[in-house]
Amino acid sequence: MAKKIKMNEEKYTTLVEPSLKEARMRKKNTIEINQFFLESKYFNLGAGKHYLLKTYGCQGNMADSEKIAGILELLGYEKTENEVEADLVLFNTCAIRENAEERVYGELGRFNKFKKQNPNMMIGICGCMPQEEKTIMTIKNHFPQINIVFGTHNIASLPEYIYDATKNQKNVIDVLSVEGNIYENIPTIREHTKKAWVNIMYGCDEFCTYCIVPYTRGKERSRRPVDIIQEVEELAHQGYVEVTLLGQNVNAYGKDFTDIKYTFANLLKDLHKTSIKRLRFTTSHPRDLDNNTIEAMALGGNIMPHFHLPVQSGSNEVLKRMNRKYTKEEYLEKVNKLKSLIPDISFTTDIIVAFPGETEEQFLETLELVKTVGYDGAYTFIYSPREGTPAAKFENHLTEEEKHQRLERLNEVVNEYALKGHQKYENQVVEVLVEGPSKNNKDILTGYTKQNMLVNFNDNKEHPCAIGDLINVKITKAYSWHLFGEVIN
Ligand code: SAH
Ligand code: SF4
Ligand code: F3S
Repeated sequence: MAKKIKMNEEKYTTLVEPSLKEARMRKKNTIEINQFFLESKYFNLGAGKHYLLKTYGCQGNMADSEKIAGILELLGYEKTENEVEADLVLFNTCAIRENAEERVYGELGRFNKFKKQNPNMMIGICGCMPQEEKTIMTIKNHFPQINIVFGTHNIASLPEYIYDATKNQKNVIDVLSVEGNIYENIPTIREHTKKAWVNIMYGCDEFCTYCIVPYTRGKERSRRPVDIIQEVEELAHQGYVEVTLLGQNVNAYGKDFTDIKYTFANLLKDLHKTSIKRLRFTTSHPRDLDNNTIEAMALGGNIMPHFHLPVQSGSNEVLKRMNRKYTKEEYLEKVNKLKSLIPDISFTTDIIVAFPGETEEQFLETLELVKTVGYDGAYTFIYSPREGTPAAKFENHLTEEEKHQRLERLNEVVNEYALKGHQKYENQVVEVLVEGPSKNNKDILTGYTKQNMLVNFNDNKEHPCAIGDLINVKITKAYSWHLFGEVIN
């Protein structure tokens, strides 16, 4: 059972503290689907006030932040970017690597000074960091200025926390270790007007030995197909052009249904029939990627020819110690099958270097695999021990210098092959979804190809493009991380 907070009782409203041990358990409780609704006592809680929301981590957190913003605006709060003026500042955090956590603590320290200038400022922290016991200890000992602490399973209760913290003048900590029910209809303020995230499932049951996510996000639970299909169809009608389906392991979608047999492949096939123009998904676990899904992807049409398929390592020995449950050969077989059915497909991946005990030979196998697949891009990381995960107890760590050298050597190969992959598009015409002006140069527009490659391009001055247009661009130059071209229609 969840523990009650005992220390600092007078400072905190008595609620629930997280436990990684409890979070590890996978209970057979059935997940209920609840509809979000706002009790009348919370109406206007934020009237005349401003909120500032800072988001760290993966697309899952970005999608959660859009729901948090939706709830706050329903309460009457208005968005601000002004750090001093904000009445409520919320940090939606990530715990995936140590440097992600350090960044948040740095920011919390910086906000001390704003809180001194504006003592009524309420500060909240949510997302994956509060799911760890050590974060709660650090907050209680070093950040007493934080008024609200909640985790990933109770976003729908945010109005209650703000209400309690305001009314009782006490700090609220409420972090559930075990996932709750699925909430439908949480109001959402989307960041983008043409591209939308759509959660299809929550949680992860894979337990890769290095990873904190199964602890911070709970067991896998899938949204009902009808709710997803309806949301995608509505987004298309509202003018959204692209939808990215989200889950930590979308290939496990539907495995938790007890009343219907419906998998990720079924979902893709059903969404293929909707009127959304571009459909993507992330992230996939290679072990759970099945033939039906590969065949569904080969339907093409609105299903984009891009696969982000995290491999993590090219060594079977390391993959085994990571508990990834596939071999390099099995991974390559799936990649080759996708390549043969979808010739214009692009692949990206995630790779961890310097996993405890990774030998030079094993690292070289990873470099070899990058060359064999010819990834169009990769997110590369140095292994970061996460307290509570099995790998944190593994021995035989590399020196800091070795870790950084391996990352650099890997990035060199990744960039070389990404450039090769991009060069195939020189002098070709590609379809681009227009995102808007480039951040660095307002005279240049940016967008993404079907293969999810970033394109910077010169607009047609007589017939300028609008955000959300699908236009043709002739590629004139390829780089490792983007393409450059001229619009031709
Ligand atoms: N669910 C997704 C992504 C999870 S996190 C998946 O399985 O692919 C994104 C990436 O962070 C992972 O793919 C992995 O490469 C990296 N990562 C996770 N835990 C890490 C750790 N402890 N140290 C370094 N990188 C890590
Ligand atoms: Fe982490 Fe593995 Fe789950 Fe991805 S599949 S979230 S790496 S445990
Ligand atoms: Fe980070 Fe949590 Fe996502 S740990 S990567 S925000 S699931």
